[in-house]
Amino acid sequence: MADILVTYFSKTGHTASMAECIAKAAGEVEGVNVQVRPVAEVTPDDLLDFDGIVMGSPVYYGTMAAPLKALIDASVKHHGKLEGKVGGAFSSSGVIGGGNETTLMDIIACLLVHGMVVKGVSKGPHYGPTCQGAPDEEAQKRCAEYGRDVAELCVRLFG
Ligand SMILES: Cc1cc2nc3c(=O)[nH]c(=O)nc-3n(C[C@H](O)[C@H](O)[C@H](O)COP(=O)(O)O)c2cc1C
Repeated sequence: MADILVTYFSKTGHTASMAECIAKAAGEVEGVNVQVRPVAEVTPDDLLDFDGIVMGSPVYYGTMAAPLKALIDASVKHHGKLEGKVGGAFSSSGVIGGGNETTLMDIIACLLVHGMVVKGVSKGPHYGPTCQGAPDEEAQKRCAEYGRDVAELCVRLFG
């Protein structure tokens, strides 16, 4: 079995909805256990228990929100131990061009510093799912596709 964590910060529920879409689709892949948890319920120690870690945030001033960054900063405790795990990112902005891609790249940069293998997307939003405000039907579809893709990669590598 491959274990995947979908964790997120969300103040008004948009990023949380994306997390649920990603986790639901990932959980439908055979051979995968998925947990979806707000960052407030994740400790750096918890990160060690998963083969895949997908992190989501609203765009705050063009980057991830502080609570997600705080978890990442605290994860220095286990620097080197997340090497080779699968990573991914998703985000919700307020407006088009509001900073989704910069936010994704900032999250992805942290995952790469941990030595993780980041799942990109050849067809669709290349750096991970994004939306403006609450995920509409198209964004939900992208989240589901991403969840499935991450899960299938985890099964290939760790199942
Ligand atoms: C402190 C703060 C900073 C924000 N900065 C941006 C921003 O730079 N660009 C943008 O498009 N939206 C920005 N927003 C809007 C949120 O990214 C947007 O409403 C998002 O959908 C909220 O996600 P949530 O429901 O998961 O909390 C900001 C909101 C807050 C509260």
